[in-house]
Amino acid sequence: QSFFRPILNAAPPSPTKRHNKISVIGVGNVGMAIAQTILTQDLTDELLLVDVNPDKLRGEMLDLQHAAAFLPRTKIHASDDYAITVGSDLCIVTAGARQIAGESRLNLLQRNVNLFKKIIPPLAHYSPDTVMLIVSNPVDVLTYVAWKLSGFPSNRVIGSGTNLDSSRFRFLIADHLDVNAQDVQACIVGEHGDSSVALWSSISIGGVPVLSFLKNQQIAYEKETLEKIHKEVVDSAYEVIRLKGYTSWAIGYSVASLVRSILRDQRKIHPVSVLAKGFHGIDEGEVFLSLPAQLGRGGVLGITNVHLTQEEAQRLRDSASTIHNLQAQLDL
Ligand code: NAI
Ligand code: LAC
Repeated sequence: QSFFRPILNAAPPSPTKRHNKISVIGVGNVGMAIAQTILTQDLTDELLLVDVNPDKLRGEMLDLQHAAAFLPRTKIHASDDYAITVGSDLCIVTAGARQIAGESRLNLLQRNVNLFKKIIPPLAHYSPDTVMLIVSNPVDVLTYVAWKLSGFPSNRVIGSGTNLDSSRFRFLIADHLDVNAQDVQACIVGEHGDSSVALWSSISIGGVPVLSFLKNQQIAYEKETLEKIHKEVVDSAYEVIRLKGYTSWAIGYSVASLVRSILRDQRKIHPVSVLAKGFHGIDEGEVFLSLPAQLGRGGVLGITNVHLTQEEAQRLRDSASTIHNLQAQLDL
């Protein structure tokens, strides 16, 4: 007797239901915030956790499994053997050193490049068709490193980039104007870090462009307010790291939004780190920087020709130069 009595003539399961498999590499603050949000939002059928710390790895797996009664059914496994990641639809890399208070993201570069040399090749070997989503910092350079080490086409290697910065930007503008952040369209591009670029001309609220709104309302063009808000965005991570030691929740939700767009083939536009060479005069080398990109099952489906003012384009090129100079020092 089987546990269930079969229902006679039951229709076979739909062959089109796709089984999603996500691997998260690094089960620290960020990796677990991402894993927890993926589970809560029911974004995958199978979640694999990989780390070099076996006790933490098993502890995090068990702790998530114990929530099964409150979550959509998801198979959760963990191992330090990359074979477990075989056939992943998406590999999210959060492994690596994080900033200490006051330290810049770029300071982490060599330590995390050395880790990537051990992480990226096995991921690419076991999942040659996967989309790689890089979160570890400095995320733009590490996305370039993952692209080089994986040998993947650039559309399948994405950095979380300024998707998080843009969320912080939208929150601060919404808070300033007392509106809902989801009604604020605002985009930050370039480096996920100190040289990010705020696209003032693209800010709109409920479809109303902010700059022309302020002008029409004879409201003093609060340029200094907007500049202050962008500075707050750049300082956000330093402030949170100073206060709690790391950032995790916002990046967890930011990455989950990218996971949804990719695995559910949403064709949604996000500012993420992509191969930016050839855009807006960035031509001195292969750098990854955030530009508004359409995401779907195949990774980056297209990069929008967003309008930049001359000043914004120049700042983006300066950001690209900073990144390119750093990359030139790498021994991959
Ligand atoms: P954490 O120290 O809490 O976790 C890092 C994890 O990586 C640890 O569990 C460690 O055992 C693991 N790890 C180290 N070497 C490994 C290897 N070779 N293979 C697999 N796992 C390995 O650090 P946290 O707070 O989770 O940050 C992780 C990274 O994410 C940092 O580089 C941080 O800067 C970055 N980050 C990026 C953000 C973004 O917006 N792109 C936002 C927040 C953090
Ligand atoms: C952030 C840093 C840690 O939270 O990248 O933006």
